[in-house]
Amino acid sequence: MSEGRIARLEDAEVSGKRVLVRVDFNVPMADGKVSDDTRLKAALPTIQHLTEKGAKVILLAHFGRPKGKPDPAQSLKPVVKLLSDLLEAPVAFAADCTGRFAEKAVADLKDGGVLLLENTRFHAGEEANDATFASELAALGDLYVNDAFSAAHRAHASTEGVARLLPAFAGLSLQREIDHVTAALHNPERPLLAIVGGAKVSTKIDLLTNLVTKVNQLFIGGAMANTFLAAKGVDIGKSLHEPDLLGTAREILAAAEKSGCQLILPIDVVVARELKAKAARRVAGLDEIARDEMILDCGPETIDALADVISDARTLVWNGPLGAFEMVPFDTGTVEAARFAAEEVRKGGLVAVAGGGDTVAALNHAGVAGGFTFVSTAGGAFLEWLEGKPLPGIGVLRQKTVEETGVIPDEAGEA
Ligand code: 3PG
Repeated sequence: MSEGRIARLEDAEVSGKRVLVRVDFNVPMADGKVSDDTRLKAALPTIQHLTEKGAKVILLAHFGRPKGKPDPAQSLKPVVKLLSDLLEAPVAFAADCTGRFAEKAVADLKDGGVLLLENTRFHAGEEANDATFASELAALGDLYVNDAFSAAHRAHASTEGVARLLPAFAGLSLQREIDHVTAALHNPERPLLAIVGGAKVSTKIDLLTNLVTKVNQLFIGGAMANTFLAAKGVDIGKSLHEPDLLGTAREILAAAEKSGCQLILPIDVVVARELKAKAARRVAGLDEIARDEMILDCGPETIDALADVISDARTLVWNGPLGAFEMVPFDTGTVEAARFAAEEVRKGGLVAVAGGGDTVAALNHAGVAGGFTFVSTAGGAFLEWLEGKPLPGIGVLRQKTVEETGVIPDEAGEA
């Protein structure tokens, strides 16, 4: 293998081998059908690489949070047909991920075949990262490939424990995620700008605290900006905010100043008396918000100012919407800023990486998810990475690479 990086799928001899591949098929479902196939599509390159090389591909995945017990409503079975259509090849299914069903299905698998095992979280040993359960999984394979960046923040048996027991490699989707997210925060072209939105400061304290030490500018939008505005003494009327966190917001403002990070808040806002599509609304300066009004989006001057900051930036990391984007017309700030960023990417002046929760939905809504340099499939894992926390699913691959080769891989997956 090459020096300086985690062992990768391409380094593995896989022909005729049973390869356990951890994918993330925790996909949105409606009426028993997959309603968004992004994560399935993300897994295709690794699966196809392996089948073309004549491996027996055994897919491990979780779905939902069944709390360690089988639950037919949280079965992975509905994924099989869609995956098979996407691969244009049959996909076998085993009704359990360990034990006789799994063993028989693996024994029946031919070289180049694909098998999906039932939800790993039907066993309590999965989330407990139980050593016996991990060894039962490991017994089904000769090699292990992790292709689930979006589950890499979980130290579970199928993401961490089993990697200790088999030769372990990073899959193609995981590599892409690591390469893009790592480049954006570890060694970015500067100025590096972060745009962080969403409703609550409370869910993003660690993230903001980490980012102010790393980025040149931090723009805060969404309802979480209201808490910061209130902390600065702005009368925000009846806007959604977290009164308990005014002190935390002040600490983050002080930390930004200390590390030379320019923290940017809205300078004007769109207000209404109710969150309704047809509610009367107006643009207000920060000193013009009435007691019975609430902030639902950034105003046009803010969007112009943000566009200037985006056009000066060389790298952008984006998480969270900038207003009540689910409700037109309060999506304007998010949509215009996202489109502006995508245009800068198109012109070649900006590397833009986005991820986490509502972010992908917001970029899809703006019609620009394809215009960003990279959009992560991860929700919680992307946030933990922005928080600077180590991701156990990647940490174990790094550790094994060191043990097996003596080479310390470049920083990866750890901001
Ligand atoms: C996700 O959807 O973010 C991952 O699959 C992790 O799921 P979890 O939050 O249930 O662990």
